[in-house]
Amino acid sequence: MKKIIIANWKCNPIKKNQAEKLFSSVKRGVTNIKKIELVICPPFVYLSEIASSSNIKLGAQDCFWKDQGAFTGEISAKMLKDLKCKYVIIGHSERRFHFKETKEMINQKIKAVLSNGMIPILCIDQINQIKENLSVINGKKMKKIIIAYEPLFAIGTGNSCSIKQAKKTNESIKGILGQDSVVLYGGSVSSKNAKDYIFKANFSGLLVGSASLNASEFVEIVKSIS
Ligand code: PGA
Repeated sequence: MKKIIIANWKCNPIKKNQAEKLFSSVKRGVTNIKKIELVICPPFVYLSEIASSSNIKLGAQDCFWKDQGAFTGEISAKMLKDLKCKYVIIGHSERRFHFKETKEMINQKIKAVLSNGMIPILCIDQINQIKENLSVINGKKMKKIIIAYEPLFAIGTGNSCSIKQAKKTNESIKGILGQDSVVLYGGSVSSKNAKDYIFKANFSGLLVGSASLNASEFVEIVKSIS
C-alpha cells in the first residue's frame, strides 16, 4: 500500500496568493514522486483555489455533520465532497481544546464524512479515544477510517515522540483495529525524523503541521519516504 503524507496547513497562510505559491512550489517539487499518496489540507477558503491534481489529493481540516441549513458559520461534509475533497481531518487536538469538540460531535463528524464517501482521518492522542470517538461506527465502515496518532506534547513543539514510544502506540492501535488498519504519526515531523516513523516505527504515513508550510522542507519529507 502507498504511504500517505498529509499536510495540515492549519490556519495558514494569511493570503490567497501565499497559499497558491506554497501549493505550486510543493506541486513542482513532487512531480516525479509516484508511490506516495500526497494530501494537502488547506483552510476551507483556499480549497477551491487548490484543485486536486493527479498526484496531490485534497483534504479538509474539519467539517460539520448536517448537510445544510441554519447553522451559521459551518461547512458541511457534503459541501466538501462537492469541492472534490477526498479526506477530512476530524478531532484534531486543537479543535478538541480550543473549540471544545466532544466525543459526540466527533462521532457525528466521522459518520458524515463516511456517508459522503470521503475518508476520515481521526486524530487521537490516547488509545481510549478510538472507542469513544467511533462508538456509532459499525464494523465494515471502521476499515475506511485512518487514525493519526498525535501525542499532545509533540504537536507544534519541535519535541517529537520517540520512535520507541510511537512504535508501541502504533502496535496498540493495530491490536484494536486490526493489523491492516492505516495508522499515521503526527507531531513535529521533519525531514530529519520522517523516515524513522515510517521505516522503524512502521506507520502507514505522516500528518505534518508546521513543516508543511515550508515547501522545500515538506518536499524533503516526501522524498525521504519515497
Ligand atoms: P506539527 O503539527 O507538525 O506542527 O507538530 C502536527 C499536527 O498538529 O497535525
